[in-house]
Amino acid sequence: MQLFTKIVSLHRITNLFVMVFTTEAELSNRLKTISDTQKTIGFVPTMGALHDGHLSLLKQSIKDNHFTVISIFVNPTQFNNTEDLKKYPRTLETDVEKIKSVSDSILIFAPSVEEMYHGKTISKKFDFDGLENQMEGKFRPGHFDGVGTIVKRLFEIVKPTKAYFGEKDFQQLQIIRKLVEKEKLKVEIIGCPIFREKNGLAMSSRNARLNDVEKKEASIIYNTLIKAKEYFGTKSANEVSKFVKKTFSKSNMFDLEYFEIADEKTLVSCKRKNKNKKYRAFIAVFVNNIRLIDTISFN
Ligand code: PAF
Repeated sequence: MQLFTKIVSLHRITNLFVMVFTTEAELSNRLKTISDTQKTIGFVPTMGALHDGHLSLLKQSIKDNHFTVISIFVNPTQFNNTEDLKKYPRTLETDVEKIKSVSDSILIFAPSVEEMYHGKTISKKFDFDGLENQMEGKFRPGHFDGVGTIVKRLFEIVKPTKAYFGEKDFQQLQIIRKLVEKEKLKVEIIGCPIFREKNGLAMSSRNARLNDVEKKEASIIYNTLIKAKEYFGTKSANEVSKFVKKTFSKSNMFDLEYFEIADEKTLVSCKRKNKNKKYRAFIAVFVNNIRLIDTISFN
């Protein structure tokens, strides 16, 4: 039944005259005609449920490159929680409409799990020089092995000149830069600014699971980060962390998972401020079992 629904939805999408590639072979054939002519390819990897942040990545890629490819693939190996994977929003038809609103010529790659993993849905092990052991890595064991596995596989298929990632997942962005360096991949990684709702909530596919009240109240996350940044001017990292913990302990809607002030490059937690280093705050909170993350530069 699920397979039937998928075929129907893809068929309807094809009727909209947008090319949705579902196999590596089809996409590679199309991309070969592009690379043969020395044209540049910009790539935006996503897990779908697209929002304005994703669309801004597409617009940047279109500006910088001759062709743009977007992938829509909910990658099972980067989820350490099966419930989270099950509930992750899947909205292929509306995603295609949104992509079309940016440009008709964007190539869409929406493969199946079988197509990407060939029956072995497991991730490779990566050494990202310790970047993987902080924050998201600590709280979501195996997450970055899953991200590394799928991003490397997607890069091998698309062979992009440049690839675009949002700074909301700043740790992921640094890890992908490390992946490219270590695996000697020929792609330039471009980090793009966070897009926010009017109340400051960072745009995320997971926001689709929030109800109106949760969405409104989620302004606490960015507001707290802004205050933390202000306090960091005069207070120690420890004092700022205490302030953030206290703020969330008073909330009966949001549970703080972690708050870290870390070196932007190494992602190692800041114990003592060093004027020569760039710092950034990272936060993860739960509301009604929905996990939200955000980050802010302290420089
Ligand atoms: O940021 C995401 O949406 C995912 O982690 C990515 C990079 C598409 C890999 O699945």
